[in-house]
Amino acid sequence: MSPLFEALGTRYPIFQGGMAWVADAHLALAVSEAGGLGIIGAGHAPADYVRAQIRAVKARTTRPFGVNIMLLSPYVDEIVAMVAEEHVAVVTTGAGDPAKYLPQLQAAGTKVLPVVPSVGLAKRMVRAGVDGVVAEGMESGGHIGSLTTMALVPQVVDAVDVPVIAAGGIADGRGMAAALALGAVGVQMGTRFLVATETHIHPNYKAAVLAAKDVGTLVTGQYVGHAARVLKTPMSRNFVTLEKQIALSGTDDFTAIEELGNGSLRRGVQDGDRERGSFMAGEVAGMVTKEQPAAEILAEVAAGAAKLLAGSPLAANLHPTKVVS
Ligand SMILES: Cc1cc2nc3c(=O)[nH]c(=O)nc-3n(C[C@H](O)[C@H](O)[C@H](O)COP(=O)(O)O)c2cc1C
Repeated sequence: MSPLFEALGTRYPIFQGGMAWVADAHLALAVSEAGGLGIIGAGHAPADYVRAQIRAVKARTTRPFGVNIMLLSPYVDEIVAMVAEEHVAVVTTGAGDPAKYLPQLQAAGTKVLPVVPSVGLAKRMVRAGVDGVVAEGMESGGHIGSLTTMALVPQVVDAVDVPVIAAGGIADGRGMAAALALGAVGVQMGTRFLVATETHIHPNYKAAVLAAKDVGTLVTGQYVGHAARVLKTPMSRNFVTLEKQIALSGTDDFTAIEELGNGSLRRGVQDGDRERGSFMAGEVAGMVTKEQPAAEILAEVAAGAAKLLAGSPLAANLHPTKVVS
């Protein structure tokens, strides 16, 4: 197993992606207890809320877990200070460059792994002193870059000398084995965990993930704002239609699209609203066919990869799966 995971002490080299509004203490606890790295998604929540989530996990496990910090959050400074105070094992960051927060977090013993969509950002992060990077392809759910996992991961692996975790489009042992073959030392999955038993999202959202096919997602924000992969719903189709109209008209009045977008994640996750809510999910939604406990998901994915990689030196990355195989 890679020194990163040996140091963390997880059983599997698997991160559960920090997902805004979705990855709360329940999911992170279940994943960490089962031997993965559970990650609480801070999203745009205030620091007090995130601290309560951290404490809820700490109260129930001594296993390591992480927090994903969205750098676009208005509370980012407070959240970084709080996460350092809480000595969280791992921080992943989304949407930007966390360089200025590294000294504070690393002084608290926290390993920092930014999510990167390109070789350029990966190299910049390594120069700043990060402990690893999560190279995330555009197959993934949520905010995305423009490269696919297959193209991005090996190029990042070649460019940096820190551990690389692959994310985007990985939902089973085949995906995990492929990611290890590309040079990653572990994987991060989000979409598969959307339907974990311990994931508290509206039943309409889980049902939509389970019903999705290979072509069940689209990308919003390509014309206006930040690109994000979501399930095809009346809301997301309307959103794309509206942003195309705005882009073609050349107007700088974004009021209508802002009204549709603001609060849409909450309306999707909590209200299950298909007309006005967003259901973020990746292209592998078509492979996610049943709700099951997080522990089962981890064991299945790791055992599947171990079977495919048996006899290969790459299997060393999965060493602790011997415990469960
Ligand atoms: C519902 C949802 C919300 C997400 N929110 C965040 C987030 O707040 N911060 C972040 O860095 N990544 C976020 N992601 C990306 C995941 O952490 C993970 O990298 C991604 O889901 C991996 O690709 P996959 O969906 O193909 O498994 C989100 C993904 C989903 C599906």
